[in-house]
Amino acid sequence: MNFQLTEEQLAVQAAARDFAQSELWAGVIERDEHQKFPAEQVKKMGELGFLGMMVSPEYGGGGMDTVSYVLAMEEISKVDASCSVIMSVNNSLVCWGLEKYGTEEQKQKYLTKLTTGEMIGAFALSEPEAGSDATSQSTTAEDMGDYYLLNGTKNWITNGSTASVYLVIAQTDPGKKHRGINALIVERDSPGFVVGPKENKLGIRGSDTHSLMFTDVKVPKENRIGEDGFGFKFAMQVLAGGRIGIAAQALGIASGAYELSVKYSKERKAFGVPISQHQAIQFKLADMATNIDAARLLCLQAAHDKDAGLDYAKSGAMAKLFASKTAMDTAVEAVQVHGGYGFVKEFHVERMMRDAKITQIYEGTSEIQKIVISREILK
Ligand code: CAA
Repeated sequence: MNFQLTEEQLAVQAAARDFAQSELWAGVIERDEHQKFPAEQVKKMGELGFLGMMVSPEYGGGGMDTVSYVLAMEEISKVDASCSVIMSVNNSLVCWGLEKYGTEEQKQKYLTKLTTGEMIGAFALSEPEAGSDATSQSTTAEDMGDYYLLNGTKNWITNGSTASVYLVIAQTDPGKKHRGINALIVERDSPGFVVGPKENKLGIRGSDTHSLMFTDVKVPKENRIGEDGFGFKFAMQVLAGGRIGIAAQALGIASGAYELSVKYSKERKAFGVPISQHQAIQFKLADMATNIDAARLLCLQAAHDKDAGLDYAKSGAMAKLFASKTAMDTAVEAVQVHGGYGFVKEFHVERMMRDAKITQIYEGTSEIQKIVISREILK
């Protein structure tokens, strides 16, 4: 098995690291504290090609593989997980889904702008009563002939107010259950579409999370993705890939917290020596490093499976399950290594601990990942 990254993958990793280290540290605490959307940083990500990394150059994308995407996600998440969730949703859920299943007209109209950041995309599946139980969609898309009439509410939507394009999952034929669901492209300025207030969140506070309300929104038939009734499978397919991106985000939060812990432990003295010389700290660093390496291998395995055209539902879910636990555990221990300093904002690790939690919740909770993994094992 070859664990070596290619020259191109290493170059992407270096470019993402350089961008994150030079452009994201400044203001990250303020953006978190004031829930400020990183507009300038997202614009720069678009210019550098981080918003449509895996899309073919024909549509303005980077034409890169999923391994490169994982490497970039890790580097950006080390510094600012709010930026990386914006990037992840745009890349994995919106761009990938449109390129794979959209019509040529949809790609020309939306994808070419989503890859450059001229447009930002959002993915709207979750509802007040349908989070993990994604088949129970209450939002309806009534078939009116040449358009759908969209009614309902979506919750916790990343890029909720900054997106221009929303992929909305809705029920057209309740009698057919999940086979009666459609995925529709909805534009931000559609009459009857209202974005609710911003959620006040524990973590990833720079990203804008909103509920969305649709009242008699007319969505042209040509904005449906795939065949009639394909919407639920579409959602499952994009989420399977999205989980690799969120796994890489979790990996990045963990490695960011770990790197700060190593640095701090060499600088901070207690009992006459740097705390890195105390076994109590060394054991923590050793556990962090081991878990992070294991998480990285799972992320790269899942990315490799996707790039090789293999089934990646199980490997993606495993990567997300393990990396998100690693993010949470590592960030908690990073705060412990930093002691009192870890509890204040200037040292970053308290933010990383708050950011880590969402990786165990969105794009399927850890419990959902276990369902996906066990089904794949037992089928
Ligand atoms: N690819 C293609 N089709 C798939 C699939 C996949 N990976 N997984 C399931 N399906 C299909 C099944 O084949 C089945 O279709 P058929 O009946 O035609 O064969 C259909 O989908 C229904 O599957 P299940 O019977 O397995 O459905 P279920 O209700 O038992 O549960 C689940 C499935 C895995 C629990 C699913 O509901 C799920 O993943 N829930 C979590 C939803 C989620 O991740 N939400 C995140 C919201 S988005 C977000 O967080 C974005 C953000 O802001 C960052």
